[in-house]
Amino acid sequence: MKNTIIWESPSNIALIKYWGKTGIQLPCNPSLSMSLKHSVSRFELTYSPIKGGDKKLIYLFEGKENKAFEAKLSKFIDSVSNDLPCLTKYQLKISSSNTFPHSAGIASSASAMSALALCLCSMQEAIDEMEMPRDFFLQKASRIARLGSGSASRSVFGAYAIWGETEGLSNSSNDFAIPFKGNIHPIFKDLQDTILMMDSSPKKVSSTAGHALMKNHPYADARFQQARLNMSELMPALEQGDFDKFSSIVENEALSLHGLMMSSNPSYTLLKPNTLIAIERIKDFKDKTQLPITFTLDAGPNLHLLYPKENENVVQNFIEQELIELLEDGKYIQDGMGDGPQRIR
Ligand code: DP6
Repeated sequence: MKNTIIWESPSNIALIKYWGKTGIQLPCNPSLSMSLKHSVSRFELTYSPIKGGDKKLIYLFEGKENKAFEAKLSKFIDSVSNDLPCLTKYQLKISSSNTFPHSAGIASSASAMSALALCLCSMQEAIDEMEMPRDFFLQKASRIARLGSGSASRSVFGAYAIWGETEGLSNSSNDFAIPFKGNIHPIFKDLQDTILMMDSSPKKVSSTAGHALMKNHPYADARFQQARLNMSELMPALEQGDFDKFSSIVENEALSLHGLMMSSNPSYTLLKPNTLIAIERIKDFKDKTQLPITFTLDAGPNLHLLYPKENENVVQNFIEQELIELLEDGKYIQDGMGDGPQRIR
């Protein structure tokens, strides 16, 4: 059908974390993430002129009704109709699916909201019968995605992306993400991410509620400063191939995120005993083998193990021998750096 648009967009894993927001979904510090390859949301959008009495949005998730998410999308779509005027004149039928399981430590809001933002921007182009310049299109999609979910702004780009004003990057912005344009060292190209499933029960705290905990957090200022410093050191590490530096920053960010949650009011302990045991084993393995391997965490108990592609086999053996017994049903998900969203139709 001519009036159907399909985008697939990836989730991403933050290496420098966005934790704390202000104003209309603006970050308190810059963040940097890696877009994933296999963990994607697929959004199919069909539009037709709206008639009196029509529902504005009909939404299906994996073929089934999901009224709660439909209401969230509906509110979001209304909120961006000033930017995308076509949205007031058409009825939207949206169906979406994910390639990855729920509550696995892979942010579905990032992949979903970026895929939707891309669909909506493509729809505006189709209605206007005019293609926007590519850079402008992506910037617009990133800004719209941000309004849906902050981390989604970064998923509009492949490889590494930066969201938030960053010293030394004059084109960086709090309004949208930009691709990291540095000369990435080969060791960080095609970086692997194995997501170790510690516990797949639903989140105890939504990320929106989590961000709010930073409002009166006693360590807030120090945290935002720490993120800026980590950002200024991570970018050269990515270019120079300095895996030790990369690893110390990435682990510091992950553990600081959880430290902030543990020291907020109310407090949250999202790490599980097995997460801590796994972290110890990863550190021992790294000390013993001197291999480039590190980990990060989302706002949950599941670990993301990061390492270069060339060490895939030895890491696989390590997982099978030392980590698998710690994992929920022995489960892990293999992913890695991806090239960003793809328009399917
Ligand atoms: C810990 O982007 O999910 O994953 O803007 O409220 O939708 P909202 O929050 P969200 O927060 C992500 C938090 C994080 C860190 C990160 O991705 O940078």
